[in-house]
Amino acid sequence: MNRTEEIRIARRLLDHIQNGTAESAPHQHKVEIGRYTDSDLWADEVEAFYRCSPIVAGMSCELAGPGAYMARHIVGVPVLIVRDAQGTISAFLNVCTHRGAPVAAGCGRASRFTCPYHAWTYDQSGRLIGVTSEDTFGPLDRSRHGLTQLPCAERAGLIFVGLKPDMPFDIDSWLAGVGDHIADDGPEMLHLGGERLIEAPNWKIVMEGHLESYHFASLHRNSVGPTTFNNCGTIDRFGPHILITVAHRHIVDLIGRPESEWHPLRDGMMTAQYVLFPGASITLLANGMMAQMVRPGRHVGHSTNHMVMGFYERPENPDVVAGQTAFLDFIETVLRDEDYAMGFEIQNGMGSGALTHATLGMNEPGVIYFHQIMRELLGR
Ligand code: FES
Ligand SMILES: [Fe+2]
Repeated sequence: MNRTEEIRIARRLLDHIQNGTAESAPHQHKVEIGRYTDSDLWADEVEAFYRCSPIVAGMSCELAGPGAYMARHIVGVPVLIVRDAQGTISAFLNVCTHRGAPVAAGCGRASRFTCPYHAWTYDQSGRLIGVTSEDTFGPLDRSRHGLTQLPCAERAGLIFVGLKPDMPFDIDSWLAGVGDHIADDGPEMLHLGGERLIEAPNWKIVMEGHLESYHFASLHRNSVGPTTFNNCGTIDRFGPHILITVAHRHIVDLIGRPESEWHPLRDGMMTAQYVLFPGASITLLANGMMAQMVRPGRHVGHSTNHMVMGFYERPENPDVVAGQTAFLDFIETVLRDEDYAMGFEIQNGMGSGALTHATLGMNEPGVIYFHQIMRELLGR
């Protein structure tokens, strides 16, 4: 985020704090409970939002340097992402063209990928360059047996992929300016500091929690609540994406100081969180940038949050590593024991028949906008 924006947002937060106001939607909003419980709708949304839009697959710092690769399942699709010798990333379906085995697992560095099943080999651009016992296998047109390429792009320290080979993939129009808004913070300076995989409830319940600070004082009363302003944030929209900021208590130290001395992000006085549709949350923190990739799981009531953190400080010595690990442990604990423990209860409550609708308040404009976007993009 550039300085002008950082100061503009800090000013808005301070105005709300001093006036006791909050950013507001024009009306309350009702969400039918089926939006959280209907398995058919859930499947349609996974297809439309996750499998047909550019989604965040990881952070650039996960693929540091030529030859770095990572293989992961993204909403059930096996994906291989590779950075070549020129530093360009490519993405493929991680599916061997012989009989479908994954050609790579985990992450690492490689100039070629040898399928573990019968050892066919592919290069970094997905070309088939080796067929085991080709003389006995019989004739094969190698040029038609490369890995299937997926659309991908790198913006703002993030890796975006499309999960269908021929889908439309205009990353800059999809990001609607949000990539530039994030990028000014220098994500190329980040060093991979760790990752976590956390089991979570329905992905929409998880994302709603990212889009308001109305729950901080109550649900997070023993963790982040005491250090943040409850029910006080700014909301900005970039196409289907939303920037929400949260003010930390000591942001009031800025009052009376000249704006030239204001560094609220660096000084941990505010947190900026970009919710990239459908399910990624990119947080700018004083110590780095965190990507939370929330993806629908096995059924309507399940998702996973793959959390990856890039720190500004290189994890070079044990003290730094211990500090970074403790930071990630803290975030993971808050998410798992507070947000997601509550989210699983909510999911259960939604299925109980007690409610026909959830009611979103005017003080929850981010959540309202999220639901409006889903309705628009799904066409219902
Ligand atoms: S499935 Fe990959 S070599 Fe046979
Ligand atoms: Fe929360």
